[in-house]
Amino acid sequence: MMHPDTELRYINDEIGYGVFATKFIPKGTIVWAMDDLDQVLDPAFVEKLDPLRKQDVQKYSFKDQYGKYILCWDKARFVNHSFYPTCVATMYDLELAARDIHPGEELTDDYGTLNLDEPFDCLPEEGANRTRVMPDDLLRYYPIWDEIAASAFQRFTEVEQPLRHLIRPEHIAAIQGITEKGHSLDSVLHLYCQSHWRK
Ligand SMILES: C[S@@+](CC[C@H](N)C(=O)[O-])C[C@H]1O[C@@H](n2cnc3c(N)ncnc32)[C@H](O)[C@@H]1O
Repeated sequence: MMHPDTELRYINDEIGYGVFATKFIPKGTIVWAMDDLDQVLDPAFVEKLDPLRKQDVQKYSFKDQYGKYILCWDKARFVNHSFYPTCVATMYDLELAARDIHPGEELTDDYGTLNLDEPFDCLPEEGANRTRVMPDDLLRYYPIWDEIAASAFQRFTEVEQPLRHLIRPEHIAAIQGITEKGHSLDSVLHLYCQSHWRK
């Protein structure tokens, strides 16, 4: 579920819709948490869908480390990509605000964390040294994303967390370790879903 202080807005014909902050969302806030209304779809199930639904599932879902498609039930599925994203992925089925997000700013992800099936040609962004998102970007950029997440976690206990109740029980202890005892984060490298990695 997406943070409550967000709304869906139409951007333009090229990008379509996106998710925008309606109030100030400070760095370290949980901006998205996976919840039990999100659908977890088996790749074999998606493969057998009719072309129309398959296309939409592939557009609006991401793949987890087990290769399952996660189709969010709410506006989270409209989050766009940026090479300068305002949100950062973690290993704990949640995303954090990577920096302070001001009202009217867009909530964006780096699609490099989403285990894309195909390269994604996005709109160019000034100053970015990447022009496409590649399915294996996690293998290259995980240290940068881990650093951003670690910095965001430092603010975790200082900020309001309206989605805190959605933290999955299996992640509570690890998150407490990071935020209260200074433990290291589990790297997002482990989000990478290729089967050779898990062998
Ligand atoms: C998960 S959807 C996001 C919601 C989408 N904007 C919409 O209105 O349906 C992903 C799609 O959004 C568009 N998109 C997202 N980020 C983009 C970017 N940085 N440049 C170009 N298109 C983008 C592409 O069409 C992509 O396939």
